[in-house]
Amino acid sequence: MEIIIKPNAAEAQQEVARILRRQIQRQPDSVLGLATGSTPIPVYAALVKMHQQGELDFSRVITFNLDEYVGLAADHPCSYRGFMQQHLFGKVNLTPKNIHFPDGLAKDVPAHCAEYEAAIGGAGGIDLQLLGIGRDGHIGFNEPSSSLASRTRIKTLTPQTVKDNAKCFGSPDQVPRHVITMGVGTIMDSRHCLLLATGEAKADVIARMAEGAITADVPASALQMHPSCTVVVDEAAAAKLKRHEYYRWVYENKPPWQRV
Ligand code: F6R
Repeated sequence: MEIIIKPNAAEAQQEVARILRRQIQRQPDSVLGLATGSTPIPVYAALVKMHQQGELDFSRVITFNLDEYVGLAADHPCSYRGFMQQHLFGKVNLTPKNIHFPDGLAKDVPAHCAEYEAAIGGAGGIDLQLLGIGRDGHIGFNEPSSSLASRTRIKTLTPQTVKDNAKCFGSPDQVPRHVITMGVGTIMDSRHCLLLATGEAKADVIARMAEGAITADVPASALQMHPSCTVVVDEAAAAKLKRHEYYRWVYENKPPWQRV
């Protein structure tokens, strides 16, 4: 696991946007796994700007989002599909048929989840999976106790995640209790994982994820077993890392060919 510590959130977000730009420029038909939540919003804004400046062409990029609320239509203002439309899809030249999302209104959820897995496989697998992390250690919505081998399926959000996600809904009572999410195993199959975390509220979980035991109690800790995982954090989110200085040293001494 490579841990990149940036002095502030803006520089961490820029670093992640640069890594995504390099991926798309090197491989214009990249299959990207995408996340929602507040953390990646500035990253999407940076990608939109790169697109507007003529640096990024999304026409051949294929996307799969991590998760969607069960019971919300794609055009619901708080759906994750709507979020992506607002922050990225509506502002770049993605080809609509290349955009994939779990369907919150699927009639047969297990069958839909199996189809989603098959679609990822049919696209050749995910080249780069962008991730955020929940304060309880979830990636996607694989809440604590999720199998580290899990595939796309329905999950029940924890009361804490319901509270954390209440902003768009007005109150926690309005937040759906269930989501369809890629599993930890699905995420682990991506060729590269790129996790962004900013702010002091993420400091505990970042330390547990990167330096604690690999356990279903912190599903993101499975990323320690991923052969190619980059974690980008700001100083606030890095504050509780034991090997803080070493990660910085590694980054400063990176061979030029490894740099973005
Ligand atoms: C969203 C997702 C979640 C979020 C996590 C952090 O698609 O997969 O794992 O990344 O809940 O959310 P924020 O960024 O709002 O703190």
